[in-house]
Amino acid sequence: MYLTGINYLNIRNLISAKCLFSKKINFFYGKNGQGKTSLIEAIYFGITGKSFRTSNIKNILKYNAKSGAVFIQYTEKDMEKNIALNYKNGKKEYFYNKNKIMYDEFFGKINVISFIPDDINLIMSSPSTRRNFFDYEISQSNFTYYSKLKEFNQILKIRNKYIKERKHKTDIFKIYNDKFIEISSEIMEIRYEYINKITVLLNLNYRKLFNNKTELYLKYIPSVEIVNIKEVHNIFQEILNTQLEKDLYYGYTSIGPQKDDFMFLLSGLESKNFSSEGEKRSVIFALKIAEIDMIIKEKKEAPIFLIDDIISFFDSERQKKVIEYFKKRNMQLFITSTEKIDIDAKFFKIEEGVLYEEY
Ligand SMILES: Nc1ncnc2c1ncn2[C@@H]1O[C@H](COP(=O)(O)OP(=O)(O)OP(=O)(O)O)[C@@H](O)[C@H]1O
Ligand SMILES: [Mg+2]
Repeated sequence: MYLTGINYLNIRNLISAKCLFSKKINFFYGKNGQGKTSLIEAIYFGITGKSFRTSNIKNILKYNAKSGAVFIQYTEKDMEKNIALNYKNGKKEYFYNKNKIMYDEFFGKINVISFIPDDINLIMSSPSTRRNFFDYEISQSNFTYYSKLKEFNQILKIRNKYIKERKHKTDIFKIYNDKFIEISSEIMEIRYEYINKITVLLNLNYRKLFNNKTELYLKYIPSVEIVNIKEVHNIFQEILNTQLEKDLYYGYTSIGPQKDDFMFLLSGLESKNFSSEGEKRSVIFALKIAEIDMIIKEKKEAPIFLIDDIISFFDSERQKKVIEYFKKRNMQLFITSTEKIDIDAKFFKIEEGVLYEEY
């Protein structure tokens, strides 16, 4: 699967235009502030309905615009298809081959992985950033997880409400509490399995790409200690029950998947506190590469890969290595950079939000 073109309206500083892509490498270059990140953000937004830069979608719209849209054409198994996203009055509408669809159906039509300078925050910022990230990534290759997560959030809300209202002795609380235990255990189990699989790939990639003397591990840190994942249901049930008094005191649910975390360990030390900036970037890149493998395994298809500001991540030697890697895998790649680099790609120059295709 690969993108053949994009069209956008009122996205950041981009001037509305139709743009056709190469099925291999697309390289966008231009000076600071010309619209490079905005362009790949438009691609990401058109595929996922989300941004990697902001959680407030309004920010993506051109200043003072009330609505915006992205239209993406792609080829899948030799068939021309398209998806579109319309944002108007704070609401998003999704389309597939021009028919309106729900987000659940839109989600995952095209898989995409982005690699942007801010991704280093994944190591540095709060557990919720990491949870959101892994939830999204697991969902990309596991739709059951996505629906379970949605259900989990609803049940957690209800449980919290009953806790706050001190209705913990009612029959209805018992029903939701049981459901909370059941779905929490399922989520923890899926997270556990995913992390166990991805940590192996992560380590392999890191050693292959960056340093074959270092071990990189990703560890799942659930809110309760689970010695044997097969017993997650019973362990969680027991601990949750013993925590009830505490939950009543605070007025919310203090343990469960909503409190889980993930930790990167480089040579046994937590990356957050010990790794250099360059090492952190390499850790994240290895993770993104590992995700490609996870998606291919589940979907039998490589995702689209976006790299923002490649020069800020890698020196020229590593840039070549990274690009070679994608070429070998025959993946479609979108790269931005302030400088043109010497590779085999379709080049686009960006100036004041306008894309100039080079032939
Ligand atoms: N919502 C918006 N509407 C219009 N312009 C915006 C909006 N948000 C940001 N901009 C402006 O769009 C321009 C392009 O931003 P963008 O981040 O895409 O630049 P860039 O080419 O990636 O630059 P750099 O090389 O510095 O990363 C900037 O001048 C930015 O201030
Ligand atoms: Mg930028």
